[in-house]
Amino acid sequence: MDTEVFVCQHNPIDRIAPDIYGHFAEHLGRCVYGGLWVGEDDQVSTDEGIREDTTALLADLDAPVLRWPGGCFADDYHWKDGVGPREERPRRRNMWWPQGRGRVPEESNAFGTEEFLALCEKIDTEPYLAVNVGSGDPREAVDWAEYCNYDGETEMTRLRAESGSEQPHGVTYWGVGNENWGCGGRFSPEAYAEQFRHYANYLNTFDRVMGDGSMELVACGHIADDWNRRFLDYLAECVDFGENTVYDLMDHLSVHRYYYAGGDTDFTEDQYYRLFARTAQIATDVDRAAEALELLAPGTDIGVIVDEWGVWHPEAVFGNGLEQEHTVRDALSAAVVLDDLNARADVVSMANIAQTVNVLQCLVQTDETDAWPTPTYHVYDLYKPHMGATALDTVVDADTETVERKGDEFGEGDVHEVPLVSASASERDGQVYVTVSNVDKNDAREIVVSLDSDAIGVESASVLFDGLSVDTYSDGGNTEAFQPSEIPVERSGDRSVLVEAPPSSVVGLSLSV
Ligand code: AHR
Repeated sequence: MDTEVFVCQHNPIDRIAPDIYGHFAEHLGRCVYGGLWVGEDDQVSTDEGIREDTTALLADLDAPVLRWPGGCFADDYHWKDGVGPREERPRRRNMWWPQGRGRVPEESNAFGTEEFLALCEKIDTEPYLAVNVGSGDPREAVDWAEYCNYDGETEMTRLRAESGSEQPHGVTYWGVGNENWGCGGRFSPEAYAEQFRHYANYLNTFDRVMGDGSMELVACGHIADDWNRRFLDYLAECVDFGENTVYDLMDHLSVHRYYYAGGDTDFTEDQYYRLFARTAQIATDVDRAAEALELLAPGTDIGVIVDEWGVWHPEAVFGNGLEQEHTVRDALSAAVVLDDLNARADVVSMANIAQTVNVLQCLVQTDETDAWPTPTYHVYDLYKPHMGATALDTVVDADTETVERKGDEFGEGDVHEVPLVSASASERDGQVYVTVSNVDKNDAREIVVSLDSDAIGVESASVLFDGLSVDTYSDGGNTEAFQPSEIPVERSGDRSVLVEAPPSSVVGLSLSV
């Protein structure tokens, strides 16, 4: 049952982009309406309509980036509907999702660009906007960029001033559509490459000529077999204009991955471990996207973004606005994903767990009067020291649980071996931060963490979920149960420390070296 975690300080990977710890909020269910925005006349305390309880929790997380307005919603969203005097904004369809407290497939447009950017400012996070490719056009997209970023005298900047912002907002991240292989237009990789080229041409030219050249464009990739390769291949054929190649138009390539096994709170032992086998697919998705980029866009520094990911249980359905319970199991799976993303710091430029409030694997849940953190929130809190630090190669020698493959899940082979311990490590200013999860749901594990240094000092050590069963979920009345506690750490050798991780727990160790 002993496990060894080797942290190779001599083998730094890259800086962990803080944006790997990013978020995503869509006009879906009670994420935006009810969760983030309740308007100015609500019983909950707000700052101009934005819930203060929710934003206080998000601000404490140092959330680096927030993607909006979708999701599928983005490809039928016309941003001009959501600016100007609120009482004059049109009520439109939300053809993708029922939303708000009444869960109706309608969009009031009360929460639009200015409200979103005010929210970002309030929680000190970078905005990431997804433009409408499915039912919009490049003019609408570039008008949005001009509205947000241009510092001059045009109709768009007048509209911005009339909407309350004289100064430009300086939005860096622009997604060119969302899941355009699916809800965002059902494009083939080749057809989307044509769309991407078209949109990116205008957005990029606007930015170079009228902006400060800092806009970063995200192309929608896919996890399906050869989608990314076909997209990149065709894109390369499309463009040669002036001194630019097509890859000057593209800064990031995104993929999405959701998974489940069993129910949210009701799952068997097999389903418990199967979830971790499925979770591991995100690492494979990233590797495959990075391989496609290396093959078809060599020599570029295009990053891989996972801008939607998380557990999507069968209980989260259209009718309930994709709400589900949030257990210790879900939080552990998030810890494993974050370890995998840290280990890929050289290729992953951003990741956005879905979705910030109330929907899917949210970090915050709300009711009519309160907001509280989910178990996954605490994992993000524990992982904060990794943001912006240098990832260190980390090798785990642990037992595994064998999960038999069903259908075409988790790639090739008849079985998947789920490591019972997951870990990642990073270094900053003479401190090494190590996160270690004991995925074993039944037994505690003695875990030896070894480094290259022979003068290790333990600065702090805390553990999440000690004593909680894996199906414990947050309900607003039990928030204390998920708080971290201190955990003893022993020196086990000149270059190592020993910690006994309780079953299904996540440990954060801060070591001076
Ligand atoms: O997050 C819910 C939905 O999942 C998003 O709208 C879509 O992009 C994805 O399929």
